[in-house]
Amino acid sequence: MPKKIIGFSKLSREEKIDWLSEKIFDDSNQVRSLLDNYLNSNKDIQAIHDSFSENSISNFYLPYSLSPNFLINNKNYTIPLVTEESSVVAALSNAAKFWFDKGGFKSKVESFTKRGQIHLSFNGDKEALKEFINNNREYILKSTDNITKNMKKRGGGISAINIIDKTNDLKNYFQLSIDFNTSDSMGANFINSCLEAMSKKIDELSKQYDFFIKSGYSINIIMSILSNYTPDCIVEAHSECDIKDLIDIEGIESEEFAKKMKYAFDIAKVDINRAVTHNKGIMNGIDAILIATGNDFRAVEAGIHSYASLNSKYESLSECTILDNKFRISIKIPLSVGTVGGITDLHPLVKLSLQILGSPSSKDLMSIIACVGLAQNFAAVRSLITSGIQKGHMKMHLINLLIKNNANEDQIKRAKKYFVDKEINNSSVSEFIKSNK
Ligand code: MEV
Repeated sequence: MPKKIIGFSKLSREEKIDWLSEKIFDDSNQVRSLLDNYLNSNKDIQAIHDSFSENSISNFYLPYSLSPNFLINNKNYTIPLVTEESSVVAALSNAAKFWFDKGGFKSKVESFTKRGQIHLSFNGDKEALKEFINNNREYILKSTDNITKNMKKRGGGISAINIIDKTNDLKNYFQLSIDFNTSDSMGANFINSCLEAMSKKIDELSKQYDFFIKSGYSINIIMSILSNYTPDCIVEAHSECDIKDLIDIEGIESEEFAKKMKYAFDIAKVDINRAVTHNKGIMNGIDAILIATGNDFRAVEAGIHSYASLNSKYESLSECTILDNKFRISIKIPLSVGTVGGITDLHPLVKLSLQILGSPSSKDLMSIIACVGLAQNFAAVRSLITSGIQKGHMKMHLINLLIKNNANEDQIKRAKKYFVDKEINNSSVSEFIKSNK
């Protein structure tokens, strides 16, 4: 019978590592020394990182990179990115440079509403529930006063409460759908705190509501939580140029490039296999800036992918059009992000990222992120329809393989030259190291 450990979170870091070593590893010193090597030598910084998660025993590094030359709404940005995928930053920087001379990217936030839901079961009809909410709206809203006070000062707050009858989907199921403006914060804590305060008030009021008592109706609050589906928090971004300006692209003639690019984008509109990969390319850029700016990339991923199915079929998030000799790529996505609150006020590198971006508002950040996604998408599809993705990818991956094969500095230098026109894989790199001692 497998043995369960009780009280793991109460153990000290040392005790946790002892437990891990005993359970899994023969050489506990090696494990301990590896974990110690990834600790920060500055105790204050380490304490900040330890505070982010329970049971933390070390840090997990990912590269922190920069992509310069991002012209967005006529402002020149340097983008901070966190990603382990070798070719992402190089591809992004190339795309940014390419569009810089063509006016860069333009972006606009189209809507800015986030939603929370109180899911409840109610054994009466919608009209009775509606009347109850309308009669008590003021008290329900008042229950959030302490929480919304500061948010209101920043222009945010609760903007609507709607009752939605879901009884056709599930017996007795109703929803209170509540709209929020969370200003510069992503707002998850704010929304969830408001929802829980409102739920509590609704429960309390419904138990004293005469009509419900007399008619035997009752509200049973099931759960209260924000929705990561944010189709009313939308940002659009695009870039555009004359077809004749599509020059220097792997020797392809500009018109042919434009047509091939559009065709590749159109394929992603009609074929789900391609759409998912096309969107994955977009997310390569988006996730990297989300992580660098301390945003919840799981929430954004969930929201974006559900939005890709808005037309009841999973589709690509971006488009390419050719009109009157103009080549245009564009993207429209939901983005619920923040530039204050959460770890934005805590993680030293997140603070740095936001400074690098010029301390953007959350709307500015939505625009920047959408442009990063579009640029990454352009870079990926450009490679796919020209040299293929492996060329750039393997060039970056060569370094990983060299390090894996314990190459020294001189071997790395020589390998970079040698592999310019050679197949790069683990065995060819390992062969090279063996014969270039
Ligand atoms: C690889 O991480 C991303 C791509 O597959 C995206 C795409 O196919 O568009 C290259």
